[in-house]
Amino acid sequence: MTTPLPKAELHLHIEGTLEPELALALAARNGIDLPYGSADDLRAAYSFRDLQSFLDLYYALMAVLRTEQDFTDLAEAYLARARRQGVRHAEIFFDPQAHTARGVDLRTVVEGLGRALDSAEQRHGITTRLILCFLRDLSAEDALETLESARPYFGTLITAVGLDSAEVGNPPSKFQEVFALAREAGLHLVAHAGEEGPPEYVWEALDLLRVERIDHGIRSLEDERLVERLRRERVPLTVCPLSNVRLRCVDRLEDHPLPRMLEAGLLVTVNSDDPSYFGGYVEDNFRALTAALGLDEEQRRTLAANSFHASFLDDKQRAAYLAEVEAHRFG
Ligand code: ADE
Ligand code: ZN
Repeated sequence: MTTPLPKAELHLHIEGTLEPELALALAARNGIDLPYGSADDLRAAYSFRDLQSFLDLYYALMAVLRTEQDFTDLAEAYLARARRQGVRHAEIFFDPQAHTARGVDLRTVVEGLGRALDSAEQRHGITTRLILCFLRDLSAEDALETLESARPYFGTLITAVGLDSAEVGNPPSKFQEVFALAREAGLHLVAHAGEEGPPEYVWEALDLLRVERIDHGIRSLEDERLVERLRRERVPLTVCPLSNVRLRCVDRLEDHPLPRMLEAGLLVTVNSDDPSYFGGYVEDNFRALTAALGLDEEQRRTLAANSFHASFLDDKQRAAYLAEVEAHRFG
């Protein structure tokens, strides 16, 4: 295999990297009954009508994650794969409320993930950040409690907050207060918007939550004024092509709006979202896009450079990674 393009992954739910084999192994280790006999049985269930039908399975399978070691093993498995996909830096989402609601402490989750992430640079050559996501289909009060309970980790293990889960009917405005508090605490801010939801949700994420990046944002193209704003302010969009097709936000990869987004001058990045469920990690997304849309080498290099520009890295580290992108030779 040729050397993959060096890149940052900025839209990756760690729970969405749970491969069927690991899910079954953790279920056995923790004495949990899953209604699937084999990894193939489980894979056969990966057919989604929309975001909600995916979320139902995604939350159900999290039942196998119980101990600190489970979260360490999950993150470690991701890091090993990510390096083979050319990932040099990963800003990783996790969904604390999906675990605390099942009786798993926040401490277990964060410290379990932290054990793998703390030494990721030495062991895998990948720098990392952790982004705490609020589940937007739960209440604003629940998000506020979650923020408070995570305070001991601010600025160390947790450096940003995000917003995910069922989008339609749960606008960013619902979370204005918790995002303001996170901002006061010095955290970076991102939010899923414009995946299934309308362009208005992207406006709200920018104006009310004051986010620095929009996760997905593909529906922004429906609003010319919004495109102009995103372009002018260089707001990064973390786009996830294979996810968009699997969740039927886009019919076929050949119809994906990414080339139009690039043409419009938007700061687009390519990411994998929930790679275990959507048929590929980040380099797989690049390859699928290249095959379906004929992205040329310069477009791919631009997308990789964008991923570092859009990251929360400091300037020195960003410059070092950008030099790697520049030096990359396509095989
Ligand atoms: N949680 C995990 N993947 C998600 C997605 N694509 N959209 C919203 N919430 C998610
Ligand atoms: Zn996502």
